[in-house]
Amino acid sequence: MPRPYSSGLMMRDPSEPVATGRNRRLAHLLGIEGLDRGTITELLTSSDRFVDCNRSEDKKLGTLRGRTLINLFFENSTRTRTSFELAGKRLGADVINMSVGSSSIKKGETLIDTAMTLNAMHPDVLVVRHASSGSVHLLAEKVNCSVINAGDGTHEHPTQALLDALTIRRNLERGLEGLVVAICGDIAHSRVARSNIHLLAIMGARVRVVAPPTLVPAGLDRLGIEIYHDMTRGLAGADIVMMLRLQTERMSAGLVPSLREYYRFYGLTYEKLEYAKPNALIMHPGPMNRGVEIDSEVADDIDRSVIRQQVEMGVAVRMACLTALAGSG
Ligand code: CP
Repeated sequence: MPRPYSSGLMMRDPSEPVATGRNRRLAHLLGIEGLDRGTITELLTSSDRFVDCNRSEDKKLGTLRGRTLINLFFENSTRTRTSFELAGKRLGADVINMSVGSSSIKKGETLIDTAMTLNAMHPDVLVVRHASSGSVHLLAEKVNCSVINAGDGTHEHPTQALLDALTIRRNLERGLEGLVVAICGDIAHSRVARSNIHLLAIMGARVRVVAPPTLVPAGLDRLGIEIYHDMTRGLAGADIVMMLRLQTERMSAGLVPSLREYYRFYGLTYEKLEYAKPNALIMHPGPMNRGVEIDSEVADDIDRSVIRQQVEMGVAVRMACLTALAGSG
């Protein structure tokens, strides 16, 4: 069994095959918290190679031939689930997409029993998304295959932060050290924000969050980031403007006065973007609420917005993560 290493990841026994170059390889990818700069850099460099592969005519590799990947999504997804499926298939793995809606979960089977049942079929990797923070960690302790967190509640979404970092790195042709990154919007409900805050801090970026007080979770100041409630001040001089979806489905009433008011004060428009650096990149993990957290024209601006590139990078990053976890080393 893999042994715990930190809250963010677990490492295999050092005597097992290596894949990271530091004599230990990833057993699970449960979060960014706990990863070190070297591991993140290796995953990004490996992802770069998969971008080239994905742009070529023949995208099929045999790296994971004979391995089995199961996608187990308890929450909806377009980007993450599809890109893990594509990533697995392009690496030559057998990929199963569990349909939670027609599974025995509907008869009352628990998350852990479901995971143990799938584990008995000898998959190599379980990719799991679940509404409860911490559920994916718990599951990883019960199974003996690798587990990737595809988003757990408001906790972490590590592959999203990695693909965001890859997008930034490729566009700016430099590392993340010293960049000013403004993460704007619904921080309280965002696992994307949490994973990005960890990753950007590890890589030496300056992180700001910009949000109404009701959408800033308690204790965020302990992570050493700057907190703003005014968009124009928060965006001043930013290299990267990362917008977040307003997650109304996770909210109790009263956190924002109305969607119209929210857009007026926190929606990204060209007017507000003026305060960021002239070539600041616009990012959004998707899915977007156009006209709520971002103006439609700004989102589609091919000179500024890298939102579609983020989706492309998602496949490459997931190929790199699957290779690090399940490749033969
Ligand atoms: N960014 C993201 O996780 O998108 P999906 O919910 O579509 O997977």
